[in-house]
Amino acid sequence: MPELTEKNLLKLKETFISQLKGIKKEEIETLETRYFGRKGEIRKLYQKLSSLSLEKKKKYGEMINLLSKELESLLNQKKIEFSYDQATKQTYDEQLLESSLPGTNFFLGHIHPLQQVLDEIISVFRNLGFKVELGPEIELEDYNFTKLNIPENHPARDMQDTLYLDMPDTDKGKIVLRTHTSPTQIRTMLSQKPPIKAIMPGRVYRRDNLDASHQFNFHQVEGLLVDKNVRLSDLKGVLNYFVKSIFGDVILKDSQESNETVSRFRQSYFPFTEPSLEMDMKCFICKGTGCGVCKNTGFIELLGCGMVHPEVLKNVNLAPEVYTGFAFGIGVERVAMLKYRIDDMRLFYTNDIRFLKQF
Ligand code: PHE
Repeated sequence: MPELTEKNLLKLKETFISQLKGIKKEEIETLETRYFGRKGEIRKLYQKLSSLSLEKKKKYGEMINLLSKELESLLNQKKIEFSYDQATKQTYDEQLLESSLPGTNFFLGHIHPLQQVLDEIISVFRNLGFKVELGPEIELEDYNFTKLNIPENHPARDMQDTLYLDMPDTDKGKIVLRTHTSPTQIRTMLSQKPPIKAIMPGRVYRRDNLDASHQFNFHQVEGLLVDKNVRLSDLKGVLNYFVKSIFGDVILKDSQESNETVSRFRQSYFPFTEPSLEMDMKCFICKGTGCGVCKNTGFIELLGCGMVHPEVLKNVNLAPEVYTGFAFGIGVERVAMLKYRIDDMRLFYTNDIRFLKQF
């Protein structure tokens, strides 16, 4: 057995490395025993310490510790390499992509809650025989306002609410981002003859400040029915059916709890309908007693509606003496919030997986 010198320790290390280099998988255990076994090289080195002076004991003791750790880690590294499938003949890096290791979980995507609600709304009206029409989000001011009987000086046209596009006026006037889906009513009535029975879903834009119930960009589903003898009671019947279809379970639960009204029609004003109504649902947070979400009214506005204004019919060349119609505009986000009892609209847009996963 050679002397305990630095040179000899180094030599031992070099021998180990060269033996490790050409080693086969089945030889690794033998090598391990030869160095780390009870009668192994490392143990022998430690045994030599006993005959040394205290000072040297310390010095060589540390060196042997270090050497032992080094050799061990080299050996482990080799074992890891061997643990990968040799048959594939991949490089070590490639083998880090080991296919038999448990993989990262990927969540299967699903339909966004807003789209789910939109699909549901569309299917309810399709069952009633409404067709789906689409209109552009970049719209003529004329269709967004003028033809809808919203006069030049109406506050809804104010720059605070409407996003005007910074582009030269066309021969048909100014261009806006539509503030509601109602201009698609105009397009539909200009391109079709009654009876017209259509819903028009889409994205709308307003210059609103963001908060729990306002977005500058949200979704509506417009509805329009124009024919002879259309009456306000038809409108109410259709919308009551809609609310029952969408909120059936929620309403049932609420009315069992409180035995009270869960939806209501309220008089309102829109320039393009006469008479105009709004439909509200009982606030899902406070159950009607008043809270921040419903601004202490106990109800949350769901949609605007009414009978198509005679002026609007005239604007699309329909005779108000012959035809009548009803129209409504449903806020998709509002429906989703009420249906799933979500108190902050922003949750739909932040795309937090923890939120989205629940639908
Ligand atoms: N366009 C109206 C809005 O955005 C809603 C509405 C649609 C009202 C159709 C009456 C009829 O608020």
